[in-house]
Amino acid sequence: MIAGIERRRLGRTDIVASVLGFGGSEIGYQRVSGRTVDRLLGSALDAGLNLIDTAECYEDSEALIGRAVGARRRDVFLLTKCGHAGGWARPDWRPAALLASVERSLRRLATDHLDLIQLHSCSLAVLRRGDAIAALERARERGWARYIGYSGDGAAARYAIECGRFDTLQTSISLADQEALTLTLPLARARRMGVIAKRPLANVAWRHARKPAEPYEQDYWARLRALDYPFLRSAPDAAIATALSFTLSVPGVHTAIVGTTKPERWRQNAALLRALPVEEFERIRARWREVAGASWVGQV
Ligand SMILES: NC(=O)c1ccc[n+]([C@@H]2O[C@H](COP(=O)([O-])OP(=O)(O)OC[C@H]3O[C@@H](n4cnc5c(N)ncnc54)[C@H](OP(=O)(O)O)[C@@H]3O)[C@@H](O)[C@H]2O)c1
Repeated sequence: MIAGIERRRLGRTDIVASVLGFGGSEIGYQRVSGRTVDRLLGSALDAGLNLIDTAECYEDSEALIGRAVGARRRDVFLLTKCGHAGGWARPDWRPAALLASVERSLRRLATDHLDLIQLHSCSLAVLRRGDAIAALERARERGWARYIGYSGDGAAARYAIECGRFDTLQTSISLADQEALTLTLPLARARRMGVIAKRPLANVAWRHARKPAEPYEQDYWARLRALDYPFLRSAPDAAIATALSFTLSVPGVHTAIVGTTKPERWRQNAALLRALPVEEFERIRARWREVAGASWVGQV
């Protein structure tokens, strides 16, 4: 175990999570082998990981995780999402489709219950209609999930807090994505919601000397160039340590789910966590306020 990795309670839930969680999109999209995922999650669980996030549309991610966790199911909190059972490009927010997706997730994750089921970044209009949220409430009533959450950003995330029906919010928070710090987190904190920071390392987009080919990373890459934080020019591990510690220092954040394909990463990142001095945190915030444009909204 990483010497006493900190654990935080997710708001008013009974989930007490390691501050460094595991994000399951990369293992799916990059088609990591079952054997590598077994090693990756096995060694992370041994070292103190106890929260894994995935989704219905991250290719084989749920099945890979279900197999790797296996008999250690009770050692870990399993989080997944619904809304794109047919793939990211084909969202379906009808209640019957959402419930069918949750049932499929249970099978793939080889479990009889999820710890958290999240609506996967539906729009504000879908949230306002209410029936998608009601479907998750039904899943909770049926015992398929212990808690329900919203995963997304901006005005929809704000509404998800205000409506009072969700237990948790998963939202983008990093050096390159700070909108949530003023738009949603103070209210989420006041309402005692669990907060899961997604994309907490901004995809380490600063590692690319030139604009990355992957569109998913391009906004963060451009923002980080403009922000030009001096500490990102330091040794790679020192930069990661500051980036991750910034996300985890944001008031209201309970856990940060870093995505990785590499078996050694979780332990490496856990060992890098440190308490960020207040002045360092404030310098990062000040730089953001100075440079961030109106278009620098939370990235899904
Ligand atoms: N709408 C949504 O609900 C939504 C959207 C996006 C993401 N998410 C969730 O958030 C999770 C995390 O997001 P993400 O994976 O996009 O972003 P991220 O965690 O900010 O970045 C992941 C990237 O960081 C790299 N990395 C991690 N530790 C590193 C280190 N010490 N040194 C160098 N590189 C390192 C990984 O590469 P290696 O493979 O080399 O480690 C990977 O490419 C996802 O897996 C998913 O669960 C949800």
